[in-house]
Amino acid sequence: MERPAWAPRNIDISVPSVSRIYDYYLGGSYNFEVDREAARKAMEFMPGLPKIMQANRAFMRRAVRFAVGEGVTQFLDIGSGIPTFGNVHEVARAADPGARVVYVDHDPVAVAHSEAVLAGDEGTGVVAADLRKPQEILASSEVERLIDLNRPVALLLVAILHFVEDEDDPYGAVAELRDALPPGSMLVLTHASYEGIPLSEERAKGTVDVYEGIRNPLIMRSRDGIARFFEGYDMVEPGLVPMPLWRPDTAPEDDDRWAFSGFAGVGRTA
Ligand SMILES: C[S@@+](CC[C@H](N)C(=O)[O-])C[C@H]1O[C@@H](n2cnc3c(N)ncnc32)[C@H](O)[C@@H]1O
Repeated sequence: MERPAWAPRNIDISVPSVSRIYDYYLGGSYNFEVDREAARKAMEFMPGLPKIMQANRAFMRRAVRFAVGEGVTQFLDIGSGIPTFGNVHEVARAADPGARVVYVDHDPVAVAHSEAVLAGDEGTGVVAADLRKPQEILASSEVERLIDLNRPVALLLVAILHFVEDEDDPYGAVAELRDALPPGSMLVLTHASYEGIPLSEERAKGTVDVYEGIRNPLIMRSRDGIARFFEGYDMVEPGLVPMPLWRPDTAPEDDDRWAFSGFAGVGRTA
């Protein structure tokens, strides 16, 4: 089996990974045939998946610019994925050159690529850690080096929480992070949902089964279930909405029905 030079030694390249499948949806090249096969299978059920991912990235970029505009220039991006076009530090720095970003992921390929892309960049850091263990993230040397916990932080949980099952207490992890960050901090979040998908739940389930098959269940929460992650935050206008409707740069930014699957929102603590 192919093992390109960029693949970390310790990974099993016969098992698809969420971050490499996502890289494939976005047109990246850090993926293997096993990942592409899983992605193609998921797309048989939901052909609009790449559209959803593009809407997700576009929302993330708008939210980062919004945060900087509100004076929040420190970012903790958990589930950051494999670096691709328009990364958080690039968008943030275009708005404020002093912006700082800590990228966190539990996937070895995402971590290795982030480290390669960011080598020598003093204003960014990479942490190999799991959202389910927030204290490990908060205690990491990179968070300590880059994030001043006396100033507001933008916590990015973009397209990650739908990979954390209820039994792993995602609400508890999000609350722990909220409590560790100072007032005025933000939560920037997107999440998959059956609500808004332009096809039957039964058919969308085909995609969910693909992720189940690679032991990375995709949890499609309801809008109400997603809104609960914002407990303790005041919602920024326009609230929790389909991704293209969150403060679009142009109206309508994208009228592809697939882009309206799932929800995006930003909250801020008082
Ligand atoms: C769909 S990608 C999203 C990447 C990026 N946030 C974006 O929206 O473009 C989801 C990422 O979350 C990571 N991930 C999933 N569960 C995680 C966990 N429990 N802890 C840390 N990272 C996780 C995956 O490895 C993957 O890189």
